[in-house]
Amino acid sequence: MKLIEAKNYADLSRKAANIISAQVILSPRSVLGLATGSTPIGTYKQLIEWYQKGDIDFSNVKTVNLDEYWGLSGDNPQSYRYFMDENFFNHINIKKENTFVPNGMAKDAEEECRRYDELISNLGGIDLQLLGIGHNGHIGFNEPEKAFEKTTHMVDLNESTIKANARFFNSIDEVPKRAITMGIKSIMQARKILLVANGKDKKDIVERALYGSITPSVPASILQLHSDLTVVYCFE
Ligand code: GLP
Repeated sequence: MKLIEAKNYADLSRKAANIISAQVILSPRSVLGLATGSTPIGTYKQLIEWYQKGDIDFSNVKTVNLDEYWGLSGDNPQSYRYFMDENFFNHINIKKENTFVPNGMAKDAEEECRRYDELISNLGGIDLQLLGIGHNGHIGFNEPEKAFEKTTHMVDLNESTIKANARFFNSIDEVPKRAITMGIKSIMQARKILLVANGKDKKDIVERALYGSITPSVPASILQLHSDLTVVYCFE
């Protein structure tokens, strides 16, 4: 495990973007696992800036996102597909057809979960997975449970997650109660993992995840078992 302390959010974003850009420069056909939430926004901004300067080329990159709210279509501004387009894909030279996010409007949820796992495996797995962390230790939308869920699955979001994510919606009632998320197995099978955590309020959970017992009640704790985990953090 490599721990990289950042001075502030801008520094964290630059450091994380540096790791992602190194991946893309060294392996232009990389499959990147991407995340939503407020933490990676600065990382995406930095990558966009470097792309605009001509330093990174995304034309052969493929991406798979961790999760999507159930019941939201990609043109809904609260959906994670919309978030990714707005905050990243629309500003770089990636081919839209090479960007994948679970379909929150699929007719059959089970079938969609199966399709998503198959897609990841057809892409040859994930080279670098970017992760944020929820206050309860969730990664993607893998909420604290009695057992680790391995494959892509539907989750009932915890009250605390719904509350935390309500800031992106007009009211808490608009926050979907369910989501589709990549499972722990696909995340752990990524060849490299980059976890970003920002803010005082993330300090406790990051410490529990990295140094506490490995338990499904803190889903991010499984990352201790990954052989190539980098954590970029700022707890200021
Ligand atoms: C959401 C996402 C997670 C993300 C978490 C933390 O629940 N599904 O992937 O890590 O939020 O977000 P933030 O970075 O805004 O704290």
